[in-house]
Amino acid sequence: MIRYRKEVDRIAPYVPGKLIDAVKKEYGITDVVKLASNENPLGMGSAAADAIKAHMDHVHLYPDGSCAVLREKLAWNLGVASDWIIVGNGSDEILKMIAEVYLTEADAVIIAESTFSQYRFAADLMGAETRFVPLIDYRHDLEGMARQIDSKTKIVFICNPNNPTGTIVSHAELEQFLNQVPEHVLVVVDEAYYEYVTSQLYPQAVKLMEYYPNMMITRTFSKVYGLAGLRIGYGIANPEIIKALERVKEPFNVNQFAQAAACASLDDQEHLRKSIEVNEQGKEYLYQQFELLKLKAIPTETNFILVDLQRDGKQVSQQLLTKGVIVRPTDSFALPNCIRVTIGTMEQNRRFIQALGEVLYADRY
Ligand SMILES: Cc1ncc(COP(=O)(O)O)c(C=O)c1O
Repeated sequence: MIRYRKEVDRIAPYVPGKLIDAVKKEYGITDVVKLASNENPLGMGSAAADAIKAHMDHVHLYPDGSCAVLREKLAWNLGVASDWIIVGNGSDEILKMIAEVYLTEADAVIIAESTFSQYRFAADLMGAETRFVPLIDYRHDLEGMARQIDSKTKIVFICNPNNPTGTIVSHAELEQFLNQVPEHVLVVVDEAYYEYVTSQLYPQAVKLMEYYPNMMITRTFSKVYGLAGLRIGYGIANPEIIKALERVKEPFNVNQFAQAAACASLDDQEHLRKSIEVNEQGKEYLYQQFELLKLKAIPTETNFILVDLQRDGKQVSQQLLTKGVIVRPTDSFALPNCIRVTIGTMEQNRRFIQALGEVLYADRY
């Protein structure tokens, strides 16, 4: 047998949300609702769909490896130069590139205990140590994270808003944290759900980057833009960091459909507006229903809600599957009594609530 690197041994394979077709087959249900991966229930906008169709004839050509047009567009929107931007095959790929560039087994990263899994994956891949800092009241404990920083620390990942809790750190909190971070530590702020945030306290992270050269931001087209299946996200950082990341980037990492659809999506303000509106309506409905069901929902700044069921969330998720509703159990996030549900269309939200009521109060139905 060929021996693989010892680091690989430590990596637990990613467990994605269950696939709709798999659930249909397993449970013999024709109408399955997936609210497990924080996708946009409206799908992509029509401008993105048109852009994809327009690229059908170019499939035999390699895509632009530098994503020049998209980077220009993003740079214009963000008020930075285009050499501050790198585009990836999903923001997952950017996280991996960051690890490949900066981490060795002599380094440590600091993350929240209950947060997105790919920061730990990136650290594990490079053999780096991961230090976990428990959330306080479902929010990042930035003071606790700052206390963990030492000479070994290379990266701090802050998921803002946080997956799976939907909570944010504020501009003031982030700034105060950055003031405590030494220059040798990179602070990565993951803003995958940026567009959904409504809080006035949310950081203007791009502005902060002007003062903190050891900070970078990642964002994605997978969530509000509805392009998860195409895989496209981006990183924003000063050119020194971007140049380093480009060294490990695959030559043609982002396919041309993804680039074209992302460009078109940025111009499609109507789809963005509609997606956010549907999310806000769904959020209010779900808050009300959770209250009626006497469940504690954590107020969210995203397109998903963490709900404390005060019982085994994995078991409830399993029972929901039998009713054709896929949600995310959060035991892997160290929150075994919760589930995370994506806010869907009103029809999907109603279906979920109906199923949840049946599961939780089986004796009354
Ligand atoms: C916080 C966070 N960051 C990054 C990602 C990955 O996004 P992408 O599809 O761009 O790789 C996700 C996806 O669920 C996420 O929740």
